[in-house]
Amino acid sequence: MSVPIPEHGTDRGRLLGEVRAAASGDVDWHGGRTFSLVYHHSDEHQAFLEQVVGSFLSTNALNPLAFQSLRRFEAEVVAMTAWLLGGDDGAAGTMSSGGTESIILAVKAYRDRARRVGRLAGGATPNLVLPVTAHPAFLKACHLLDVEPRLIEVAPELGVDVTAAAERVDAATIAVVGSAPNYPYGVIDPIPELAALAQQHDVGCHVDACLGGFLLPWVERLGRDVPPWDFRVPGVTSISADLHKYGFTAKGASVIVYRDAALRRHQFQVETGWPGGVWLSPTIAGTRPGGAIAGAWATLHAFGVDGYLDLHRGLLETTDVLRKGIDDIDGLAVLGDPPAGVFAVGSSTDEVDAYAVADAMEARGWHPDRLLRPPALHVMVTPVHADGVADRFLADLADSVEEVRGRPELSTQGQAAMYGMVATLPEGEHEPAEEFLLGLIDGLYEV
Ligand SMILES: Cc1ncc(COP(=O)(O)O)c(C=O)c1O
Repeated sequence: MSVPIPEHGTDRGRLLGEVRAAASGDVDWHGGRTFSLVYHHSDEHQAFLEQVVGSFLSTNALNPLAFQSLRRFEAEVVAMTAWLLGGDDGAAGTMSSGGTESIILAVKAYRDRARRVGRLAGGATPNLVLPVTAHPAFLKACHLLDVEPRLIEVAPELGVDVTAAAERVDAATIAVVGSAPNYPYGVIDPIPELAALAQQHDVGCHVDACLGGFLLPWVERLGRDVPPWDFRVPGVTSISADLHKYGFTAKGASVIVYRDAALRRHQFQVETGWPGGVWLSPTIAGTRPGGAIAGAWATLHAFGVDGYLDLHRGLLETTDVLRKGIDDIDGLAVLGDPPAGVFAVGSSTDEVDAYAVADAMEARGWHPDRLLRPPALHVMVTPVHADGVADRFLADLADSVEEVRGRPELSTQGQAAMYGMVATLPEGEHEPAEEFLLGLIDGLYEV
């Protein structure tokens, strides 16, 4: 597709109106109708972030020596994150554009370290041992870096089976992975056991806390039971933690922290043979938007520990309302016992199809995310779900369950049909569905 750029410029004021009008057709995240993608604290914080990010819109952390402000902000954000994650003075890391980039960086560091220490001698293919529930960013990293992913099954309520993981670790394993918590069920993998396994084989243990890094530490401080998962666990060697999720900063801000700077070295790229100059690049991106870094620094300072505790106390209250309300609905159940406001809601009886419930919720103006295994709705609680939104959600959920109860024909209609089909695809028969999904992506770029 090829479309000409408009011949003449348009008045900026008019364009501002046009882009705002275009956004009015987007999902109503501000009204709490979505359960992912947006982590909005308040209009006041948003206005503050617009100013901070706007002030750094043109800056570029590609050269932190030119932007000393960004160098300081990034170093301080990494150090504060390391502190929150139980790291000591030896901890070292960088910021990145998001969870996916942090994960790719960690896998690169482990692969390159394995090469450097001769672990991949004889051209062995490096492998990464990870639960099937780990975020697909790990699979992307494996594709990009020629690492073989070794996937381990997971029971929703338990996290990864460490005995099964142990059977897959071998001489070419570069690291084992656990999530804190995983996206699908909000459950924390058994990190101490995984880390011990990693230590036993002298490989890395990466904990993906993209969701939990700025969530679980507050939940623990607020007195809830949180199984051990951070640098306080011996053998955990790196953690990814996203500030643009439960840290409530502007998008484009994640942190990758290593237990020590020696491991971080394997993440970096330096080139001394490029005609264009001496090249140093800490992360994947070349140009690095300064606004995301300044926004993250300003957000950590704006909240402080007490601000985050207040915010997460509120999220736990909303979570408790939702969990109790769901327990009271006959036909639905939260999967496992996740420690915070990330969880899945599956059906507890054959009479109720979870995907049909999701479609009925969609008809009531909600945008529920859906899990494939098992069929379930997915919830991530943020401040927009307080103030009566949770109660309306529960009332609509109860009505939706009654609407679909005992109507198996609904599972072959609407989105339920598509999800049901994908969820039950036998192994080896995924290709047509993948081809269809690739076509969907192509279609997104139609003008
Ligand atoms: C557990 C987990 N890890 C990694 C990611 C990837 O983060 P991003 O979308 O910022 O790349 C996500 C995103 O939701 C996640 O839930």
